[in-house]
Amino acid sequence: MTLIVTTLFLAFPPILFIMFIRKRRERSLRLPPGSLGIPFIGQSLTLLTKMRSNTADEWVRQRAEKYGPVSKLSLFGSPTVFIHGPAANKFTFTTDTSIISNQQTASIRTIMGERNLFELSSEDHRRVRSALVPFLKPESLKRYIGKMDTGIRNHLQMYWEGKDQVTVLPLMKTLTFDIICSSLFGLESGPKKEKLMNLFQEMMEGMWSVPINLPFTKYNKSLRDSTEVKNLVKQLVCEKRIDLELKGASSNQDLITSLLSVRNEDNKEILSEDEIVHNVVLIMVAGHDTSSVVITFIMRLLATNKTVYRAVLQEQEDVTKDKPSGELLTWDDLAKMKYTWRVAMEVLRMIPPVFGSFRKALKDIEYGGYLIPKGWQIFWATSMTHMDSNIFKEPTKFEPSRFENQASVPPYCYIPFGGGARVCPGNEFARIEILVAIHYLVTRYTWELCCSDDSYIRDPMPVPTQGLPVKLIPKKV
Ligand code: HEM
Ligand SMILES: *[C@@H]1O[C@H](CO)[C@@H](O)[C@H](O)[C@H]1NC(C)=O
Ligand SMILES: *[C@@H]1O[C@H](CO)[C@@H](O)[C@H](O)[C@H]1NC(C)=O
Repeated sequence: MTLIVTTLFLAFPPILFIMFIRKRRERSLRLPPGSLGIPFIGQSLTLLTKMRSNTADEWVRQRAEKYGPVSKLSLFGSPTVFIHGPAANKFTFTTDTSIISNQQTASIRTIMGERNLFELSSEDHRRVRSALVPFLKPESLKRYIGKMDTGIRNHLQMYWEGKDQVTVLPLMKTLTFDIICSSLFGLESGPKKEKLMNLFQEMMEGMWSVPINLPFTKYNKSLRDSTEVKNLVKQLVCEKRIDLELKGASSNQDLITSLLSVRNEDNKEILSEDEIVHNVVLIMVAGHDTSSVVITFIMRLLATNKTVYRAVLQEQEDVTKDKPSGELLTWDDLAKMKYTWRVAMEVLRMIPPVFGSFRKALKDIEYGGYLIPKGWQIFWATSMTHMDSNIFKEPTKFEPSRFENQASVPPYCYIPFGGGARVCPGNEFARIEILVAIHYLVTRYTWELCCSDDSYIRDPMPVPTQGLPVKLIPKKV
């Protein structure tokens, strides 16, 4: 008895002291306003429902109005701090990746593999990213424009020629997947590519699913597909290694050989095989779902806004008017497509493929007078600056001329490709691919929407509800 009392007595001051410290810390640094909602589920279902009815932009804006610049909520199983505005974007994008790392959902992590760039932070992120980036720079991509050009012409010939009607989105997915396979992985059309694409598309089905691993769930199916996709990629990597080591292939023949060629002083590969495979899968996902959506929405716009269509067509015809027909587009031709790119930029502003994304606080962080506790998520949303009338006048108006003077757009406001250390390394690749595709589409066809409903939802990528069926009218050439 006395022992218990004594223990309690002795333990009491330290406990009081700890409570006092906690209180003081909480008082000096409070958690942001807002509610974490129902445990585990939080506001996830609300956000997903709003995405599906395409009112998620409105939903985040209302939260911002209600709670101010910093607020808390709970998304996909983690407590989350939502911050917005140019300063918040700068903070999210430029804080060192050892303090704020990326955070993807559990499904994405397991399906793509845990060594993909999204999952890496600090030194690992820098090492893998610096191996990946050189191949995606304009200096290297310049050599691939011809390849993309041929790929797009072949695609049109195969899937568009002779058709009265096509559904744009699924075709654009096929196109962007093929372009990535041939330009980045050196994998040309054929049975191997077909197999990879089928598996890959099935794998994508479970990408945004709830990670419940039971035999009948989408997630389980996706994991099985993902294992097969990774095995195919592994084989491809093996073949490239042989090309490189035994057949004297050039180290910048494609992205995979270029990754295999990054060596340390002892001539050892600096990326592990898993790192190569997981990042190849990441690029398949990050690179084809996004640009296919952008091309689809540009086509939707060109069908409905004749002013823009005529201006784009004019520019595209001017670009090739002195070229013999059939000649491939070049880097200089693309540089002349200034108006077309502004149209694409405006589509990316109003309908950004990436709604927003998550980071994770690796330490307690102070932001805007509030505490972001270690382990919490940080959530940023593209539309918060893209649709802010203080930044973009009349934000709901389609106005490509706002990008005539790009310097007039303040930093960290136009963020379809993110920013900072994790800015999309594929943005130049996407630009080339989009411009070449639009060139051949507008110079060969006019089209009319033929869907009863041309609205779109977020899934989480924006997708036209009916996949954008269009009536095609070929031009005489
Ligand atoms: C219009 C098309 C595209 C858009 C709108 C887009 C958008 C984005 C955004 C917003 C991020 C940053 C996500 C974050 O910070 O959480 C990102 C990252 C990334 N993107 Fe893209 N992307 C596009 C095309 C591509 C292409 C074509 C590729 C590959 C060739 C690619 C590869 C990547 C990779 C590897 C990352 C991760 C970078 C890192 O974490 O360091 N993207 N993309
Ligand atoms: C799918 O579910 C079954 C049964 O729970 C499990 O044995 C199997 O490992 C799962 N598949 C994968 C790829 O995780
Ligand atoms: C079409 O685009 C032009 C040029 O940006 C714009 O002024 C006009 O309002 C748009 N028309 C429609 C119907 O959106």
